[in-house]
Amino acid sequence: MPSRRQFVSTLAAAAALPTFTPRAGLALRRASEVAGARAADALAPDEDYWAEINRAFDLDRTLINLNNGGVSPAPTHVLEQMIRDLKFSNEIPVQHMWRELEPRIESVRRELAREFGCDPEEMAVVRNASEANETMILGLDLARGDEVIVTTQNYPRMLTTWDQRARRDGIVVKPITFTVPPPSDDYLVERFRAAITPRTKVIEVTHITNLTGHVMPVRKIVDMARPLGIEVFVDGAHAFAHFPFTRDQLGADYYGTSLHKWLLAPVGTGFLYVRREKIPKLWPLMAAPATMTADVRKYEEIGTHPAANHNAIAAALAFHRAIGAERKAARLRWLRDRWAKRLLAESDRVKVLTHLSDPTKAGAIGFFAVDGMDPNKLGAWLYDKHRVVTTPIVFPEFSGVRITPNVYTTADEVDLFADKVLEAIRRGVA
Ligand SMILES: Cc1ncc(COP(=O)(O)O)c(C=O)c1O
Repeated sequence: MPSRRQFVSTLAAAAALPTFTPRAGLALRRASEVAGARAADALAPDEDYWAEINRAFDLDRTLINLNNGGVSPAPTHVLEQMIRDLKFSNEIPVQHMWRELEPRIESVRRELAREFGCDPEEMAVVRNASEANETMILGLDLARGDEVIVTTQNYPRMLTTWDQRARRDGIVVKPITFTVPPPSDDYLVERFRAAITPRTKVIEVTHITNLTGHVMPVRKIVDMARPLGIEVFVDGAHAFAHFPFTRDQLGADYYGTSLHKWLLAPVGTGFLYVRREKIPKLWPLMAAPATMTADVRKYEEIGTHPAANHNAIAAALAFHRAIGAERKAARLRWLRDRWAKRLLAESDRVKVLTHLSDPTKAGAIGFFAVDGMDPNKLGAWLYDKHRVVTTPIVFPEFSGVRITPNVYTTADEVDLFADKVLEAIRRGVA
């Protein structure tokens, strides 16, 4: 992990980006001093280090937020940069927003591309994963009768978009199911392979599922599908800046993500990656001139919009780099294991449907069920009685409660949550 000198150079590398506020800079410097040269796993349980990271946020501490999978707060300095730019824009938007702030999207593009491992000319800055994914789903030419394979655990809005396309264009959407936790990568690849026919044109796969947090074997699915001429769309809403990976590790041609989840950028930020040679064939959601056919910026032709939001991505990215992707992933898994392994150890009524033993198969998101307990009632009890925010999920094949901590979650918070679940198991939630 970065030494102090490396930390300073991380800050220097971020100098092209908006600088940290004194408060954020101080929190990161103190955190770096606490960290020393320790490896990510050794630092994961260190509450002193993570308390410094915590100080970069202004949070409502009357609630314990264990639904960071939905949308996350930005660190205060990231929000302040956005507010500063909104105010500056509003002084004379035609000049300050269009002429001064909007062109800075190019450095956001460059830095996102560097992080993801692609060329900036393959990176479009959009408003969320929904926009990125819908560009893929609605943007590829498909003929009546062409087939698309999805899973029933893909994100509902994406499934709705495919369904609308089926109703409008007569394509055929074939959803596959899979058990959780999936027994192996090969099992998942085989589920997709078995659904392929000569008419299959696209597979849409979720990099990490929003239900149980399973990390899908994207690379293996791409390697299986590409020789058959099948496009693979990757919905990475939950993956980018959650755990480290690059475009080349995935081998993906198309990737969409939100940045207001794990990158901690302001609400309304995301990206769409399209491999350069694929850009001319993927239409934008909102029309762009023919001269832009091969230009990734065609996906940003959305009319007048605030420049402040997307420019603040740069500040969030600098914060992410200052923590370090490996450290973040190790801490998130440590927090997940802390509650999940304890519940498993202390109650034989608990089942965890997220892989805990293999770090490549899951991250912060954990999903558990309590035998004989309605997850909606448990979620309501945790919130009403104890101010703990969770995500109860009822799905045809399984149901339970999803828990997602973030970098500012403390060990005390997950302990309190686990105490309360064990109390609910002992006494009931009626
Ligand atoms: C897997 C997945 N895809 C897409 C989305 C949509 O993200 P957004 O609402 O930020 O567009 C989500 C949101 O939770 C998600 O979990």
